[in-house]
Amino acid sequence: MNKNLAFRRFFPLFFCLFFVTAYAEDGSRLWLRYESDGQANISGTFGVARDELQTNWNGGPVVLKRQKGMPKDGYKIVSDGEQIRISASTDAGLLYGAYHLLRLQGMGNVGKSLNIEESPMYEWRILDHWDNPDGTIERGFAGHSIFWENPCEFVIRQYARANASVGINGAVLNNVNAKPQTLDSDNLKQVQWIADILRPYGIRVYLSVNFASPIRLGGLTTADPLDKDVAGWWKQKVDEIYRLIPDFGGFLVKANSEGEPGPCDYGRTHAEGANMLARALKPHKGIVMWRTFVYAPNDPDRAKQAYKEFQPLDGQFLDNVILQVKNGPIDFQPREPYSPLFTSLKSTLVMAELQVTQEYLGAANHLTFLAPMWQEFFSLVKPASLKAIAGVANVGDNINWCGHHFAQANWYTFGRLAWNPNLTAETIAREWLAQTFTTDKRFVNPMTDMMVSSYETVVSYMMPLGLHHQFAGGHHYGPEPWYTAPGIRSDWTPAYYHRADSLGLGFDRSSRGTDAVSQYPDELRDQYDDIRTCPEKYLTWFHHVPWDYRMHNGRTFWDELCHKYDEGVHGARRMLAIWDSMMPYVDKERFAEVQRKLRIQARDSEWWRDACLLYFQTFSKRPIPQDVEHPVHNLDEMMKFRIHITNYENPECGYSK
Ligand code: GCU
Repeated sequence: MNKNLAFRRFFPLFFCLFFVTAYAEDGSRLWLRYESDGQANISGTFGVARDELQTNWNGGPVVLKRQKGMPKDGYKIVSDGEQIRISASTDAGLLYGAYHLLRLQGMGNVGKSLNIEESPMYEWRILDHWDNPDGTIERGFAGHSIFWENPCEFVIRQYARANASVGINGAVLNNVNAKPQTLDSDNLKQVQWIADILRPYGIRVYLSVNFASPIRLGGLTTADPLDKDVAGWWKQKVDEIYRLIPDFGGFLVKANSEGEPGPCDYGRTHAEGANMLARALKPHKGIVMWRTFVYAPNDPDRAKQAYKEFQPLDGQFLDNVILQVKNGPIDFQPREPYSPLFTSLKSTLVMAELQVTQEYLGAANHLTFLAPMWQEFFSLVKPASLKAIAGVANVGDNINWCGHHFAQANWYTFGRLAWNPNLTAETIAREWLAQTFTTDKRFVNPMTDMMVSSYETVVSYMMPLGLHHQFAGGHHYGPEPWYTAPGIRSDWTPAYYHRADSLGLGFDRSSRGTDAVSQYPDELRDQYDDIRTCPEKYLTWFHHVPWDYRMHNGRTFWDELCHKYDEGVHGARRMLAIWDSMMPYVDKERFAEVQRKLRIQARDSEWWRDACLLYFQTFSKRPIPQDVEHPVHNLDEMMKFRIHITNYENPECGYSK
C-alpha cells in the first residue's frame, strides 16, 4: 500500500480515536466547546435535547416540555429566575431550543430572565455535499468525505450535532454530478446507516441522482421521462428507498448541465423530467430539488441562458418540485448580481443554492466570511419569496472539518441564515467568535470587524467592480485573466467575461449589448441599464466601461480599478496584522494555523493584483497611479508559468511550469 493510500485508509480511524481520547486545540470541536461537569438538572422529554443539556449545560434546572400547536421546529424558552422551561411541539424543536440555550451559555450571555420564541423561516435547510463514492469531494478543500469510504459513526454524529445546533435539517449525501451507483441496493444500505445516525438530530437524508439511472443501473434502453417503464423503474426504486429510510427527504437533480444526462436528451422539458420523479416521491412526501444551473447555448450571453430555459416553464412544475437556483446567474462568482430567475418565477417553488465551500473565494486558504455576501443576496431577493435554502458544504475529514478554522464560520452562518435570513453578519460573527474562541471583548470586537470586512477585501483583490471568472484554467484558485486553451469553449475562458480592449473593460449586458438587464424587474432593469446608476460593484458585469469613465468619486475607471486592487492587498495584510495582535487571546495551535493561512492569503492577494492589473494594463495603456503600491511581479514571467495547484492545502508552490 503506498503512503497516501495508507494514510487515506487509516486516517478516519485516527480522526475517531482523536476525538474520543483528547481535545487538543485543533478545531475539531467547532463552536460546540461546552464546558460543564455533566451534573445539570434536566427533566422532561427524553431524547437528544436532554442528553445535550445533561452533558453540556452548567446553569440551573431546565424542564423540557412538549406543547402542541407550536410552529414546526419552533420553540419557546422561558425562565422565571429559578427554572428554565423549553417547550416545543416536536423533538426537533426541543433540540433547537436546547442548542439555543447552549449558544447563550457559550456566548457568556444567558441572563436571568429569558423569554424567547423562535421558529425557522424555511422548512428545508439543507447542506449539499458534493461527495463522490470514492471519498473525494468535488470542490472540497478539507480532505475526504465523512460519509463515503471508511466513514466513522462518531464523526457523523458530531457532524449531526453541529448541524442541529444551527438548525440545519437536511443533508444531500452525494455530488450533484451523481453516479448511477448511488441508487444501487448496496449503496442504499449505507445511506440507511447514515440516515439512522442523523435522524435523532432532526436531519433527513437526500440523494443526488443521475437521470440516466434507469439505463445505467436498471438496464432499460431509455431514460425518457414519458416512457412508462422508466417511470415504473423510478417508482420501484423510490419505494425501495422508503422501505429502508421511511423519512427519506427526496432527490436533488442536475440535469442537462455540464454533460449530465437529462430529459432534454429525449426532447422533453425540465418540467417533464422533474414531475416524473416528483410523482414517484409524492406518496412518501418526498421532494425533488431540480437545479437550474444549466447553460445551453440558447443565447450568446451565458448569464441569460438559465433564465431562457426555465422562465417559460413557470407554473408547469408539480407542488413537490422546488427549483434550486444558484444565487447568481453564472456560477458562485466572488460577486454576482442575483439570478433574475428569483424574481421571474411566479408560480413555481424556488429555493436558493449558496456555496459554503469557497470554490471561487480562496478555497480553504483565504479567510472570507460569507455572511455579507449572502446578506447582499437577501437584500434583493426577498427571503419570503423562497421556499427553502441549500448550501454546498465545506465539510471534510480534516481534523478541523473545513480546512481553515475560519471556514467553520461559513458553515455556522449558513445554518443561522437558513433559520433566520434577517440576522446581520455582525451578530453571526460575534456569536461564532465567542463560542469558538473566547468571549473576551478585546478579541471579539476587532475580530468581528475583521470578519465582516473580509468579504469586500477578497472581492477587491480578486475581482472588483463587477469582474467575474478571471480564474486560472483547471482550477478556481488563482488569477489567469489571459488563460485560453486550444478548442476550449469560449465561456470557459476569462476573456469571454472581461472583454478587455483598447476602449475599456467589461461585458455589455445593457440594452445596447446582450440586454441581460431586461431579465430583471423594470426598476432594477433601468438602474442596471444606465452606467451612471448601475451600482459600481456590478459595473463591468453590466457594462463595457471606458478606461477614462468618471466614477462617482471622481477617479477614472482605470485609476479606480488600480485603487480597488490596492485596497484588497492592503486589506489582506491588515487581516494578518490584526490576527497577529490577537496572540494573547488564542491558543497556540489555532493561532499558528490561522496565521499561516493569512500569510498565504496576503501573498495570494499580490498575485491577484499583479496578474490582473498588469494584464489589463496591456489594454488600457495607462499608468498605475502614483498613490497605489506598484506590482512586484513581472507580467511576462507570470504568463510563462501556470499556477500549479496539486494540493490546495499547501499551495505555497505558487507559479510553476
Ligand atoms: C461549478 C463547479 C462544478 C460543479 C458545478 C455545479 O461549475 O465548478 O464543479 O459541478 O458548478 O454546480 O453543478
